[in-house]
Amino acid sequence: MSSILIVGIGSIGRRHIENFSNHFKNIDIAELNNERIEQANKDFKINKSFNDYREALNSQCYDAIAITTPPHIHLDIAKEALKKNINLFIEKPLGISSEGWKDLSLEVANKKLIGFVAYCHRFIPYTKRLKDIIDSRLIGAPLHANIRWGSYLPDWHPYEDYRSFYMAKKEQGGGALLDESHGIDLLRYILGEPKKIAAMLGNISNLEITSDDAAFLTFKLEQGILAHINFDLVSRVPRISFEIVCSEGTVIWDRMEHEIRIFNVTENKWSIESFTKDDLMSMYPLQAKHFYDCIFNNEKPMIDIEDSIKTQKIIDACFKSNEDNNFKTI
Ligand SMILES: NC(=O)c1ccc[n+]([C@@H]2O[C@H](COP(=O)([O-])OP(=O)(O)OC[C@H]3O[C@@H](n4cnc5c(N)ncnc54)[C@H](O)[C@@H]3O)[C@@H](O)[C@H]2O)c1
Repeated sequence: MSSILIVGIGSIGRRHIENFSNHFKNIDIAELNNERIEQANKDFKINKSFNDYREALNSQCYDAIAITTPPHIHLDIAKEALKKNINLFIEKPLGISSEGWKDLSLEVANKKLIGFVAYCHRFIPYTKRLKDIIDSRLIGAPLHANIRWGSYLPDWHPYEDYRSFYMAKKEQGGGALLDESHGIDLLRYILGEPKKIAAMLGNISNLEITSDDAAFLTFKLEQGILAHINFDLVSRVPRISFEIVCSEGTVIWDRMEHEIRIFNVTENKWSIESFTKDDLMSMYPLQAKHFYDCIFNNEKPMIDIEDSIKTQKIIDACFKSNEDNNFKTI
C-alpha cells in the first residue's frame, strides 16, 4: 500500500495532504503543534500522527516523505529520511543556502530515489504557454525581462500574527528573496541560467520582521539577456507578473489576472489569452500526481535537487552581492 509521511502541517502541508490523498493510500503526518494535528485529523483521512518526525520514520517504511516545514530544517529532515531510503518531496526553497545539498543529491542518485523540489509554478498551464511562446520564437528572440512578485505579508495567514510566522524570521529562512524564489526558478526555466548577478535587499517597511521585505535583483543571463526581479512582502495589492521583451514583440505572464498578453509587431496589437484561477490552482494536484508518477510510473522529476541547487546558488549569490556591495558571477 503506497504511503507518505508529511512533515509540517501548516498552510502548504494541509494543501499537500489533500492532493496526495488522491494518490497515496496511507497518509501519516508529523507536526510540532498539537492543535494543527487535531485540525488535520478532523479535516482529512490521516492514518497516524506524530510530533517527532524521527519517531514516524522509525515506525514504518514509507514510500515517500513531503518536507513542508520552514526552510532551515529541510536539509536535516531530508538527511534523516534518506537514511531510511525514502523518496523526497521537498518544498521550495531547498533550504537557507546551497550548503550540504550536493552530497544529499548524490546520495539520492546513488540510491536511485526521487528527489523532487516543489517549485510548483512550472505546473501552471499558462506557464507552459509562456515557455512555448519563447521556445518557438513566436515573437522573436528574448532580449530582456522583468519579474514583479510582491504581496503584503500580514495578509498571508489571517489566522496567525505574522510576527510569529517563520516568514518573519531570517534564521528560519523567511524573507522575500528565499520565499519568492519561484521567480528565479521561472526565470531559469523560461530564459536560461543567470551568469552575472547584482542584488540589493532591504527592510524598507515598518513590518516587524528580521528577514528582508524587499529584494531587487539584476541578472545577465547566458546569451546576454538582461533581467530584473523585484520581490517584496510589502505590496498592499499583490502583483505577480513576468514580462519578456523580444525582438518582435512583448509577452506578459500575469499570475494575478490569469492572462498571457502578447504584442506581436506584425499584427501591431495586443492579444490576450485568458486563463482562470482554477488553472492556477491546478498546479498543486498536477504536481502531486507528477511526484507519484515519478515514484511509481517512471516519470522523470520536472525539478530535481540538482536543478534546485542552481536556484539556491543564485539565492546565495544574491545574499553575498548585497553584503559585499558588488557583482557576483556564477
Ligand atoms: N509552493 C508553494 O506554493 C508554497 C506555498 C506556501 C509555502 N511553501 C513552502 O512550504 C514551507 C512551509 O511553509 P508554510 O507557509 O506552510 O509554513 P507554516 O508556518 O504555515 O507551516 C510550517 C509548519 O511546520 C511545522 N514545523 C516546524 N518545525 C517542525 C518539525 N521539526 N517537525 C514537524 N513540524 C514542524 C510548524 O509547526 C508549522 O505548522 C516553506 O518552505 C515555504 O516556502 C510553498
